[in-house]
Amino acid sequence: MSAVLATEVPGKAQVASPIAAVLLGTGVVGGAFLKLLNTQAAASIRLVGAANSRRQQIRAEHLADRALREKLKNLGDPRNDAELLHALDANDAPVKVIIDATACGTLASRHAEWLARGYHVVTANKSLAGGDLPGWRALQAALAQGGRYGDSATVGAGLPVISTLRRLRGCGDALLTLEGVFSGSLSYLFNQYDGSQPFSALLRRARELGYTEPDPRCDLSGEDVARKLLILARCAGFALRPDEVEVESLVPESLRGVDVETFLARLEELDEPLAARHAEAKARGGSLRFLARLNQRGRARVGLVEVPADHPATRLYGTDNQFALSTTRYNTQPLVIQGPGAGPEVTAQALLGDVLALG
Ligand SMILES: NC(=O)c1ccc[n+]([C@@H]2O[C@H](COP(=O)([O-])OP(=O)(O)OC[C@H]3O[C@@H](n4cnc5c(N)ncnc54)[C@H](OP(=O)(O)O)[C@@H]3O)[C@@H](O)[C@H]2O)c1
Repeated sequence: MSAVLATEVPGKAQVASPIAAVLLGTGVVGGAFLKLLNTQAAASIRLVGAANSRRQQIRAEHLADRALREKLKNLGDPRNDAELLHALDANDAPVKVIIDATACGTLASRHAEWLARGYHVVTANKSLAGGDLPGWRALQAALAQGGRYGDSATVGAGLPVISTLRRLRGCGDALLTLEGVFSGSLSYLFNQYDGSQPFSALLRRARELGYTEPDPRCDLSGEDVARKLLILARCAGFALRPDEVEVESLVPESLRGVDVETFLARLEELDEPLAARHAEAKARGGSLRFLARLNQRGRARVGLVEVPADHPATRLYGTDNQFALSTTRYNTQPLVIQGPGAGPEVTAQALLGDVLALG
């Protein structure tokens, strides 16, 4: 069952309803979203509350402050979800939305409850839609009662892949295979990795450029890619459990339990196994890519794959993501969606688009 989506009437001018919004998370993505709120495109949105993990603000004069994000670090009230919801209730806007720009599992576990209480939810947080099956089912049950769930930002930083899958499915098309590169950092690493420098050197550079998480194991473990694959598989009609996605981690067993500093000091331990795999692939005229794959029987796998020189994933640049969908109607050539799949501005724009679609 897919989320209820806003409808548009082509050729008819849309009058946006005012939208009252609470923003959870003022980090990289939340901060970019606050900047977008100051643009004309967001004129219909009234921010009535904003929070980071420790503090929150509901007073209009502080919410209007362009330095809100910085000020929340030191000023503001202690965190209290009930007060944020009360601020939404107190506003007379006909549309009320909670925007989750965190990675917090506890907040995500409340999405279904918020929907059931009549709020809409727009999220970059993958923890619910890409988490345990009972949580995802609770979300579907809440959506069946009404409310909308804007999840464009959860996969591909807003590249139109979730919407495309839902649209094709709504037209009676069925997914045959899905394959692609779903991680900006892993895309960058394997687009660059040609054996001329150690993988660890490339990883250090990617981290310096801000392409990886501060702890690169979050990217290298494949878990984030697996969550995105779960979200897409479920959109395509495969209600998979997380343990049904086979995940190949690039983090050696010996480096999984150590602290971040130790991991960063021992990055060279990644080099030899990857160099050997790269050399084998190169000898056969191929290269390595970190791919997510789903087939029509619902078999899902995430991991390193040797691809031939003419594979679509060899034509990626920078931190591009790629989603190749073969369906019963796109069956000669896949429908390919490709482009920047990470970054605060595009992710925040995906959130904004989902919020505006509610008005
Ligand atoms: N960065 C990207 O390019 C990108 C792309 C697509 C999707 N996403 C997703 O977007 C989400 C946010 O990513 P990010 O890069 O912005 O992360 P981030 O910079 O680490 O920011 C996370 C924010 O969430 C806040 N937070 C954590 N728990 C909270 C709670 N219980 N209540 C309120 N706020 C809470 C943090 O508060 P503190 O400031 O107090 O720590 C911080 O402000 C993640 O789910 C990520 O996977 C990110």
